Amino acid sequence: MVATARDPQLPTHWFNILHDRPQYVTSAVSRSRVAGAVKAAGQGALLQQPLSLARQSINTADRLIPIPGEVLDLYAQYRPTPLRRAVRLEERLGANARIYYKYEGANLTGSHKLNTALAQAHYYARAGVRHLVTGTGAGQWGTALAYACQVMGLRCTIFWVRSTLRQKPIRGDMMRLLGAVVHESPSNLTEVGRRALKEDPEEIGTMAQATGEALALAGEDSESRFAVGSGENSVLLHQTIIGQEAISQMASLDDFPDCVIACMGAGSNFGGITLPFLGAAKDSGRPVRLVAVESAACPKLTRGRYRYDLSDALGTTPVTKIYSLGSSYVPPPVYAGGLRHHSAGPLASAMYADGSLEAMAIDQLTSFRAGMLFCETEGILPAPEAAHAIAGMMDVVSRHPRQEPPLVALVNISGHGLLDLGAYSAFAAGQIEPVTADEASLAQSLSALEEFNQGIAEPAEAP
Ligand SMILES: Cc1ncc(COP(=O)(O)O)c(C=O)c1O
Repeated sequence: MVATARDPQLPTHWFNILHDRPQYVTSAVSRSRVAGAVKAAGQGALLQQPLSLARQSINTADRLIPIPGEVLDLYAQYRPTPLRRAVRLEERLGANARIYYKYEGANLTGSHKLNTALAQAHYYARAGVRHLVTGTGAGQWGTALAYACQVMGLRCTIFWVRSTLRQKPIRGDMMRLLGAVVHESPSNLTEVGRRALKEDPEEIGTMAQATGEALALAGEDSESRFAVGSGENSVLLHQTIIGQEAISQMASLDDFPDCVIACMGAGSNFGGITLPFLGAAKDSGRPVRLVAVESAACPKLTRGRYRYDLSDALGTTPVTKIYSLGSSYVPPPVYAGGLRHHSAGPLASAMYADGSLEAMAIDQLTSFRAGMLFCETEGILPAPEAAHAIAGMMDVVSRHPRQEPPLVALVNISGHGLLDLGAYSAFAAGQIEPVTADEASLAQSLSALEEFNQGIAEPAEAP
């Protein structure tokens, strides 16, 4: 097969922050130390990652990790992605800033998620796995994995959070066109889903449930594995292609950002653009400010607690120290389904804990306003998640003093919003509210989180 010619600006390696900051290799606490823990079905499915992939989450030896040739050839179909200066937006804002954006929406599946989907499908296919199962929130990850599985000859099953599936069923058509089997979550297919539906037949679904369902199904046979869309160190690593490209693209414009801004689901989009800049800042001695923008409906950083917790509702995922609202928190059904995860992943959490990143929470009305403004000025309709990052960036820029030199801001537009027209139409019709957290669910979930943590001692030291 003749491969697509690779652009010379396409990086050939991923950037591994664990080399510079080995303290970010966080250890999971043993399940036996968690009160009332059970060994759940599906546990093996997560733990049986191919070694190539599992090692990437703990590798502190190599700063650069070569991208497999097969993955590079597929990256070459849509990368490098554009980096542009948002001149019209600057003018409209009257900003004392040079605003740059990186755009990850210009691939078939519509977001940054493809960067890790291709890598994971490659490693699993080479390890002899035949079927990948996953949970998806916004649906962007599910679409990306469906495509990657098709390319690599794998079967794909997706549990999609009910509230988002019902908001944009057409994205489900895309997953199915790409060969995936799609289930609404909670479903009747697994114990996690049945339990949730028994408690509330109208349950709107959460990422923790969808993940739990996927893990349960993946655990049922030896040819299947669970693939994870965000949070894990290896996933953040695969996304660093974004930041590495941005560094060289900005260098070719003779610029370097004072501030890099991205939205935060579980951290892969944020890590993807920011981690290489931490490396560049270390090498050059130039500081860089990193800002994570979360949804006010799911404020895991600004209102969460740094505790041991799970990522799923099955109780299967490793128990790691993360900023969390508790895995039983049910965020209101905001349109930014990709920001509804109850926790940040361990790496993003460790960065927040040591002050390497700042966080801000944006409500969805503010984010849709920013998304529409970006559309009018820059000709790109951002995904609702990315619209949060734009709103966050506008907030940062607006606070920059007039008398100082212009602030250089870089924002990651993680996906397009062309399958979110229903949401934008609702905004245009004045039907979007500035939704914040569900306080009752939050109080209950945080108290369950504290209970879960009772008796868990800090691990003696990182592995
Ligand atoms: C377009 C888009 N941006 C950002 C995110 C947040 O994801 P992450 O967990 O990578 O931070 C998602 C998640 O689905 C998404 O679809």
